[in-house]
Amino acid sequence: MHYFPELETLLESSSAPYSGFNVASIVVSRSGSVFKGVNVESVAYPTTMCAERTAIFSAIAQGVKTGEIVEVHILARNADKDFITAFPCGSCRQVIAEQSLNKAKVYVYRSKTDISEHSIDELLPNAFFSLD
Ligand code: THU
Repeated sequence: MHYFPELETLLESSSAPYSGFNVASIVVSRSGSVFKGVNVESVAYPTTMCAERTAIFSAIAQGVKTGEIVEVHILARNADKDFITAFPCGSCRQVIAEQSLNKAKVYVYRSKTDISEHSIDELLPNAFFSLD
């Protein structure tokens, strides 16, 4: 299932006054529940949080367990309001890998019909998983 209309609406909640780059993410859990996230920027720039991690952390806070994230959908729009293909950053790839136990599918949207599908293992090979 795809979520273009939901992601487009969700972009309106993105708080990106410094970059003007809006990102929306919807994650789906194994049970089919859906959780939303947007990027939230800070004037102390590194304190900014990405849309993907906002969505995943929300899912975890609402009871989704590690390994139960199965899909991550991403739509982004630049300061000119053009949709832009945006792959998850390295930090988000790590969190996606961990919270899906390396199983998530990542859907990167460019438009309603231009959607590419990637496995997290393809996006982050040899992910770091354990301190043992
Ligand atoms: N951003 C995301 O929300 N997700 C990503 O995977 C990459 C970047 C946000 C962070 C910042 O608010 C803006 O995009 C520009 O980097």
